[in-house]
Amino acid sequence: MEIAPERCFFLNMSDDRLQTEIEAFDDTQAYLELMARPYTRRLKAEVDKYMASQNLKGATILELGCGISEHANRFNHDNLMVVTDITKSLVEKNDPPSIRAICDAQVLPFKDKTVDFIIYVGILHHLPDQVLSLNEAARVSRPNGRIFICEPHRRSINYVYYNLRLLTMRILGVRFVKKLIGCFSPDESQLNVKAVENIFNGDFAKKKWTILSFRLPPLRLFKDSKLDVIFSNFFDRLPIFKHIGTTVFYDIKRLK
Ligand SMILES: C[S@@+](CC[C@H](N)C(=O)[O-])C[C@H]1O[C@@H](n2cnc3c(N)ncnc32)[C@H](O)[C@@H]1O
Repeated sequence: MEIAPERCFFLNMSDDRLQTEIEAFDDTQAYLELMARPYTRRLKAEVDKYMASQNLKGATILELGCGISEHANRFNHDNLMVVTDITKSLVEKNDPPSIRAICDAQVLPFKDKTVDFIIYVGILHHLPDQVLSLNEAARVSRPNGRIFICEPHRRSINYVYYNLRLLTMRILGVRFVKKLIGCFSPDESQLNVKAVENIFNGDFAKKKWTILSFRLPPLRLFKDSKLDVIFSNFFDRLPIFKHIGTTVFYDIKRLK
């Protein structure tokens, strides 16, 4: 992987959106609690299945918005694994030999066509400009390289939950919602599926699939309940939900 000096910037710390994101994730306990929820584990199991099917050796791997990466240990002995995020306290929790860097996923400081595998898990919906980041991923990915995306999307029943949360935030304020549900960012949106479809066209081949990971309002009341998994297993059997799963996955390959 080669650094492109002309694309190296200090994080734009005056950017309110970046600040809000960092504040949201700068609490490791709350972050770990979010990662441990049955809802999160269900979709992470699908991510893990995909990662286990990747036989990578000598590859340059870039994880964007890695948090505390769940994939670095799988890949970092046989590959160059670069884990990046804007939240320093999370980046620091990743172990060597991964290379750890603070990096805004919207501006990648790497040269064109130098990365073999790019990982986005639950980060695109946190970005002010998803198009910017996806164009960067397309730019830095190597021929035959892959891009993996796992994100929540609009065409799902979780979107109802998302809008109820927005409404509660407007009426009762962000602090109130934070107390109620823990780690979250007020600016979260959903994956811009249209942008993925448009940007990874022509030189790219795409495989898309969805799973249902039903999201209960993550009130403390439901904290340790497995109700969301029980609901997900039930709804997953109904054919209609196969097409409107709550989480969308893309496996994108750059052809040339
Ligand atoms: C929901 S967490 C996902 C963490 C991890 N990828 C996972 O597998 O669960 C979202 C992450 O995106 C990071 N993030 C938010 N905005 C970002 C940006 N502009 N550039 C890079 N990372 C960002 C946050 O700091 C946080 O670690």
